[in-house]
Amino acid sequence: MGLDRQKLVAILAAMPETADLTVEVYETLPSTNQQAWKAIAQGARSGTVLIADRQTSGRGQWGRQWSSSAGGLYLSLVIAPNLPVNYGYQLTLAAAWGIATALGDRGIPVRLKWHNDLILMGRKLGGILTETKVRQETIIHAVVGVGINWANPVPTTGIGLQSFLNQQSSTAIDSLEMLAAVTLQGIVSGYQHCSPTGINTLLRSYHKLFVNLGQRVTVEGQNGVVVGISDRGELRVRLDSQLSNVDSVAEICLAPGSVSLGYDG
Ligand code: BTN
Repeated sequence: MGLDRQKLVAILAAMPETADLTVEVYETLPSTNQQAWKAIAQGARSGTVLIADRQTSGRGQWGRQWSSSAGGLYLSLVIAPNLPVNYGYQLTLAAAWGIATALGDRGIPVRLKWHNDLILMGRKLGGILTETKVRQETIIHAVVGVGINWANPVPTTGIGLQSFLNQQSSTAIDSLEMLAAVTLQGIVSGYQHCSPTGINTLLRSYHKLFVNLGQRVTVEGQNGVVVGISDRGELRVRLDSQLSNVDSVAEICLAPGSVSLGYDG
């Protein structure tokens, strides 16, 4: 059985962050992000949520397909950020941090892998794909799409939240509707931290959940270590000294997608 819209609406109505959201639930869509753009073209307001029980062409990062069989959470939230285009990176970081924090508040130890992955026990629990429409250097519309493994089949590098909670005998989240509501609560509260003046407060909290700190990486043949995320949302890597007698330390900043940070599994 698919997600029960009435049950979800009742849970959303009880939480201040989500009480004003409008929800559309579908059995099957090509992609909730794609449907969100159609809804925007038809005048959908900020705060519209599109959810599908399954997707036939789920979109992942870097043009990849997001496997979307029944049992998983697939949702998109429409927002109108009016944020300068250069600050668009904040939307994904804020959503990731907000969702991880909302799940963490319920005792689920979700961590963040730069820049859009939700991690549980070293495995991928979910991901975020933010798409934007820009006019005159300003993001006028954004669609924040989130996929989270609940009871759907997952690859070896993935983890499903329902079986994890069952193993812990935890009832922190007891339905797909509850997971959808907590996810939306997280996106909305993360979004409240986005600002044209920067995301320093959010970044400090993001770093506490950041799994890649201290990870060894190789960038274009040079070895280094991950030391954080810049206030532009880039990965900060301190390169190993190249000159044995000289105390030289160089730091580089990498844009999302320019280096693969891998998984345990
Ligand atoms: C990633 O590659 O890690 C991001 C995946 C994002 C998938 C979600 S599922 C709901 C929404 N609709 C889509 O087509 N993609 C996003």
